[in-house]
Amino acid sequence: MNTLSQEKINEIRNGVNIVDVISSYIPLTPKGKNYFGVCPFHDDTNPSLSVSASKQIYKCFSCGATGTVFKFIMDYENISFKEAVKKVADLGGVQVNIGKIEKKQTHQELHQIYDLALKFYINNLNTAAGKEAREYLHKRNINEQTIKEFQIGLSLKHDTLSKIMTQKFKREDVLKSGLVGLNDNGYYDLFYERIMFPLYDLDGSPVAFSGRIYNKEDNAKYFNTRETEIFKKGELIYNYHRARDIARRKNQVIVMEGFMDVIRAYTVGIENVIAMMGTAVTDVQASLIKRMAKEIILCFDGDEAGAKATMACSNELLKIGVTPKVIRLEDNLDPDEYIQKYGKEAFQRKIDNPISLMDFKITYLKSGKDLTTSTDQAKYISEIISELNKIDDDILKELTIKKIATELNIDESLIKKHLVQNPKPIMPIKKAKKSPVMDKYEKAESALVYYMLKSPEVITMYNNRVTYIPEKEYRSLAREISAFYKNFGFIDEADFIDYVECDPDLMATISKINKTNTKDTYTLEEIEDYINVIKAYNVQEEIKRLTDKMKNLTDPLDKAKIAEEIVGLKKGV
Ligand code: UTP
Ligand code: MN
Repeated sequence: MNTLSQEKINEIRNGVNIVDVISSYIPLTPKGKNYFGVCPFHDDTNPSLSVSASKQIYKCFSCGATGTVFKFIMDYENISFKEAVKKVADLGGVQVNIGKIEKKQTHQELHQIYDLALKFYINNLNTAAGKEAREYLHKRNINEQTIKEFQIGLSLKHDTLSKIMTQKFKREDVLKSGLVGLNDNGYYDLFYERIMFPLYDLDGSPVAFSGRIYNKEDNAKYFNTRETEIFKKGELIYNYHRARDIARRKNQVIVMEGFMDVIRAYTVGIENVIAMMGTAVTDVQASLIKRMAKEIILCFDGDEAGAKATMACSNELLKIGVTPKVIRLEDNLDPDEYIQKYGKEAFQRKIDNPISLMDFKITYLKSGKDLTTSTDQAKYISEIISELNKIDDDILKELTIKKIATELNIDESLIKKHLVQNPKPIMPIKKAKKSPVMDKYEKAESALVYYMLKSPEVITMYNNRVTYIPEKEYRSLAREISAFYKNFGFIDEADFIDYVECDPDLMATISKINKTNTKDTYTLEEIEDYINVIKAYNVQEEIKRLTDKMKNLTDPLDKAKIAEEIVGLKKGV
């Protein structure tokens, strides 16, 4: 299974000289034992990047970027580890069948169910039953080519899908899919008469659907598949697989709120577009976006909710050192409506002239305030200060302070006094450790992640059974390991370290787990134990949260409801 062994990776790495490879990207000059160049990974003016021929690594003395030849190419070209390996292999003339590192599909049945459901829905749209839905789509200027490209389909009035599925697949898998339910009358479809938009995972496989109403009144405009083993809402980005390459080439990605917006932009030829699924952006999504391109432009709906979402998303990105740019659309329009009303060129002009995040924030924080009153003024100033404390661009800070001081006719020092000195928002701030001794919860988290790095079996157990690891550092590492396994179909500690070696936080966690855990082998009981400890902790936290919530309630009925929930949770422990 380990089709790309560490030996092969070494062979590929040894097939080239890192000095030759890097100098094909940036000019290098020899100095002493090493070679020096201007670092491409930060705004460098002095040659602070050193390349060592003897160690075959590079290191930037200014921004700290470091790694092997793979890491350099990955970051410079914004490509994956696999693609970088392929490049280096080609350069060095090492034969390698990269096609073989294809993902090993886990949850095969669920994927098969989704492939079949997709075909079924697409076909329905082309039958007589699909006439009204097709007319609806055409009225919205979604033509046949777009329907085809985005694999748009239709769910029916009757329980047809559940019949087909239960005949073809194991019933337990069918129920797991989130497309079919079971009650006293038997199996039934969960989607009725909705236009079905497939949602894809990062590799482009359909793993969920969003169904839109078109012929009736309903509270929910879109109804989405619930989370399943293959669909984690917070880890999905709509259109990621179509947009990734073009975003890398342009080094620019445009983030929208709804997938209809993405479909519209894509259809008129603006293809470096992705959408969040109408929810707040998660840390997983933020780091995926960060890896797509350097220039990130948020283009959310033009209404108040869109402005609020822009604030939230930009703050999540700032936490990982990314400062996005912003587009705001007039008259509360969303990108879909804007493009239809004003055309592609007008929208392209918006993309070419985004506003800076700080300018957006100033406008946003000002709106709804009466800056002639001192209450609103004070509020405004304190909000601006809090935003300034999130960025570490001194010039931008200075300019903003000047602007605000002039605008409000106050002294600049008033703002400066409240600024935090040298904030470092580049990496998420780590929680201060509670105590140097590990409690049993942390031990379980650390051990579970340690064995994940050693065995696909443990990764699968994690995928299926653990929804949330409480400590952020272990959680991030576990997610990264799981994603690596998903992408490459194998896990190997050395490869993994090659892959993440420039992320100091992940590297620190890896050395920590290797210090705490030393055994090479494990038993399934042990892993079960760790998982149960983690789950018990989560339940305990949930009970704490509910108890707090109950304290603040006055209605006895509401209280009773929560009490019941707590009892249920306690029983589960
Ligand atoms: P919007 O309400 O902005 O959708 O929700 P839209 O893109 O304009 O859709 P149309 O033009 O009315 O067809 C943005 C996103 O929020 C999620 C969907 O993912 C949607 O793309 N959403 C919205 C839901 O999940 N459920 C809803 O009921 C509404
Ligand atoms: Mn819309």
